Amino acid sequence: MSDIKHIVDQNSERYLNELFALLRIPSVSADPKYKADVLRMADAVKDSLIAAGADKVEICPTPGYPIVYGEKFIDANLPTVLVYGHYDVQPPDPLELWTSPPFEPVIRNGNIYARGSADDKGQFFMHVKAFELMLQNNLLPCNVKFMIEGEEEVGSSNLDGFLAANKERLSADCVLVSDTSMIANDIPSINTGLRGLSYVEVEVTGPNRDLHSGVYGGGVANPINVLCEMIASLKDSDLHISIPGFYDDVIELSQAEREALNAAPFEVEEYKHELKIGDVMGEKGYSTLERTATRPTLDVNGIWGGYTGEGAKTVLPSKAYAKISMRLVPNQSPDKITELFKKHFESIAPAGVKVEVRPHHGGWPVVTPTDSNEYRAAAKAMQTTFGKEPIPARGGGSIPIVASFEKILGLKTVLMGFGLDTDDIHSPDEHYGVFNYLKGIETIPYFFKYYAEMKQNG
Ligand code: BES
Ligand code: MN
Ligand code: MN
Repeated sequence: MSDIKHIVDQNSERYLNELFALLRIPSVSADPKYKADVLRMADAVKDSLIAAGADKVEICPTPGYPIVYGEKFIDANLPTVLVYGHYDVQPPDPLELWTSPPFEPVIRNGNIYARGSADDKGQFFMHVKAFELMLQNNLLPCNVKFMIEGEEEVGSSNLDGFLAANKERLSADCVLVSDTSMIANDIPSINTGLRGLSYVEVEVTGPNRDLHSGVYGGGVANPINVLCEMIASLKDSDLHISIPGFYDDVIELSQAEREALNAAPFEVEEYKHELKIGDVMGEKGYSTLERTATRPTLDVNGIWGGYTGEGAKTVLPSKAYAKISMRLVPNQSPDKITELFKKHFESIAPAGVKVEVRPHHGGWPVVTPTDSNEYRAAAKAMQTTFGKEPIPARGGGSIPIVASFEKILGLKTVLMGFGLDTDDIHSPDEHYGVFNYLKGIETIPYFFKYYAEMKQNG
């Protein structure tokens, strides 16, 4: 095993070139204009699994984008690891803010710049390359199944159906996912929690048509003004969310859990400096680490209506819209929160407007155990390659499928991600460290080794 690092070093250029080929495919799942590219990406993932040595590689259709499946079955007495990742990416806009084009990957200052470099192409592809490395060097101690999907960034709405219909084929001992971040390259950590999500779009309608803002202004409700007031009223002065019942199911952390969480290395001054903000802002009574990982949120993701073109147009708009996301924590139910939001939002609308709330996707929050074989194997693998014991740390993002793995397949997941929060995923200039990519490929074979050993020894 000691020569894994050597093998990775020797192949690093090829590993990078092969990843670059995938990064050149604009597999944006949210925008139908990229449909052919998303499908081309599924083909490329399939080819990469075949080339790495996987069997039964198949593009499995769903009502949306397909799931790419592949496996290597060695022995029924060995444990089976299900590797999950996603080949779709977020839209690249605003394009003008990218230093180099999003689908023309380049390395600058030790980072791979491209949409999807960290989320999640660079991370799932580490598993494909680590698998290839293990096979070629007779180091594969487990059965492996790959499931790489194409709709994670749009809510994985066809995944539950796929899991339910393929229980036998997907049977495994645990799920291994690299789609999260670590605290820093010299402070390795393992993600032990993800927030859930409730996402809604609201439409506020005032008068039946756009009006002259002088002739009618002051006499009728302006839906944009009303929408802003309604949104502002969703939080009180302590930035506590004021939707009745919103916090009812939240499991509060114990004092000991809060202390452990806040012991993680975090410099608020550095955080402010990096984001160029004068101060942090959030719910009263909680630290930034708590606010971004263990507390629910409500954020407007986009708001529009009226005239936004060049110059001035004196118009009183007929309609206003907003997209609103709520991040959820254990034990909040996405459906229940969406219902509470809808009821409350409709109830606060003044008589001069009509309100429509349209639910988008949702997802359940998860907390992953730290006393499982898969967690301990991941921790030991990172300890081996980073030379430091990783810290368990809860993250603020969401991967809705993780709760489904547990609910539908009865499987626990370990979130062994190698990204950094500063990778700018979903933002312009998304990047992934060459160090992180290669370190991931080096660490994964140790996960398999230790996991097999731990399972063997009970
Ligand atoms: N990989 C991210 C989630 C993530 C990133 C978790 C960093 C923890 C740390 C994933 O691709 C993502 O962006 N998920 C979406 C959820 C979704 C339903 C669109 C999210 O969190 O917004
Ligand atoms: Mn992701
Ligand atoms: Mn993402």
